[in-house]
Amino acid sequence: MTDVAGEYGERAGGRARGGLDPVRAELDALLAQTVETVRERSRAFWQHYEADRDPARLAAWFVPRCWREIDYVFMLGEVVRRYGLEFERRHITALSRQLLDEAEHYDTVARIVERLGGRVPVAPPPSAVEWSRFLWESLERHRLGAIAAWNMSETAATGTLEAIVEAGRRYDLPDVVRAYEQIIKDEKFHIGLGRLLLDRYCENDADRDEVMRAMRGMAAITVDSHVAIDPGP
Ligand SMILES: [Fe+2]
Ligand SMILES: [Fe+2]
Repeated sequence: MTDVAGEYGERAGGRARGGLDPVRAELDALLAQTVETVRERSRAFWQHYEADRDPARLAAWFVPRCWREIDYVFMLGEVVRRYGLEFERRHITALSRQLLDEAEHYDTVARIVERLGGRVPVAPPPSAVEWSRFLWESLERHRLGAIAAWNMSETAATGTLEAIVEAGRRYDLPDVVRAYEQIIKDEKFHIGLGRLLLDRYCENDADRDEVMRAMRGMAAITVDSHVAIDPGP
């Protein structure tokens, strides 16, 4: 993750200020452990699908994923509106680029849901309610709160993405392969950007406390929410 942040930072001409240094080891351990837990737990879904290829259940797997994409759009817009002018202009641009990516992800995942006969969520499905509430609460508390919480959530989600592409190949779901190959690529940028912003704008212990609060809280939520299925509206 540090590499991705570094890579993005170089590309954007940015220089991280190392605001995460005092908590970096703890944070990296928490991120790595959460990714592994989510990766391990998401296997159960595909094992079940191997035995019973039910399109409705597959649609339900994508419904909370679909919701998270559009909720990111709303949150990114709100972070830019509320806190954007405290950031460098190029960081407003980068967050806005992420917003467009998330809107495209919502559309592509929504098409998968529809093709499988499911209904596209227009409100948080049950498994995403706590996730969404925590993110919005983190956004209210601190300018880095939502960025930290969604950085944990997006990092944890990487534990499911490769398995989705593999399953798409195995079960001949070309739209799933296409969508998630693009999502994997975009997530590298999003995760790197989030880390860069946290490193750049964490200025003191109070900031670090808020970031760690958001990261820990989200880590606990994602291990359930990222492996959940929801039938949708
Ligand atoms: Fe996304
Ligand atoms: Fe993302």
